[in-house]
Amino acid sequence: MDLLWPGAASELDDEALLALTAMPEGRDWLRMNFIASIDGAATRDGRSGGLGDAADRRLFDLLRRPADAILLGAGTARAEGYGGMRLDDASVAWRESRGLAAHPVFVLISRSLDLDPASPMFAEAPVRPIICTVAGAQAGELADVADVIACGEGDVDPLRVRAELAARGIRHVHGEGGPHVFASFVAAGAVDALHLTLAPTLDAGDAGRITAGHPAEPTGMRLASVLRSGDELFLHYVRTASGS
Ligand SMILES: NC(=O)c1ccc[n+]([C@@H]2O[C@H](COP(=O)([O-])OP(=O)(O)OC[C@H]3O[C@@H](n4cnc5c(N)ncnc54)[C@H](OP(=O)(O)O)[C@@H]3O)[C@@H](O)[C@H]2O)c1
Repeated sequence: MDLLWPGAASELDDEALLALTAMPEGRDWLRMNFIASIDGAATRDGRSGGLGDAADRRLFDLLRRPADAILLGAGTARAEGYGGMRLDDASVAWRESRGLAAHPVFVLISRSLDLDPASPMFAEAPVRPIICTVAGAQAGELADVADVIACGEGDVDPLRVRAELAARGIRHVHGEGGPHVFASFVAAGAVDALHLTLAPTLDAGDAGRITAGHPAEPTGMRLASVLRSGDELFLHYVRTASGS
């Protein structure tokens, strides 16, 4: 993977990629990671995985590495069949050498709580997950396998999610979607940065974008870096100071 901007460098190793994409020390930070085709499709055959290649997978895994938590919408968890949020051995060693917990906390966003407490997401979780839901939602057996917290009334309020996580010492949050969660966090002004992989294909068809629902005023973003692997681009955008 090569750096195109700022500066230029060939075949960045993992440490260089981690340094380039680091979340700011001493600041609460929430970023999202998505992939889309050149013409904006966020899925192929209903999942994001078909759009990515080995380089995207490498960055996807590295972006998880420094996070205190991985945030995910229930729709993506159901569509993609997530397992327990367990990082690989290299990531665990990297984290432990820096005083971080071995694995990040898995944070799920769900209004309905239509999640199977027996699924690998919970059964194989190395750290007890957190589910952010709405007041009055019935946790049932989910309460046995996760901390279920109310973060809103009709909708989960992204700013309350951030406040609840910060109160638990979770300051660096790495989100993996999906589109409805991303849009609601954008609309609330709760997203600091976006890592967007541009897969070099034109997919046509009716696949959705990386945001869905939740109309919002446009959020201004500045370009932080551009990486390339073959014809694939990896764009890193950070919200402008004013966000407009
Ligand atoms: N291209 C990519 O990088 C990428 C990344 C992630 C996902 N995807 C794709 O996106 C598709 C899933 O899309 P999606 O939009 O359904 O995913 P999503 O945003 O992960 O999940 C939507 C669900 O999250 C919960 N939710 C989201 N915002 C909420 C809010 N403000 N308050 C309360 N609950 C909220 C609801 O869960 P409940 O229904 O449980 O109430 C809602 O149905 C899949 O096909 C997946 O493969 C693509």
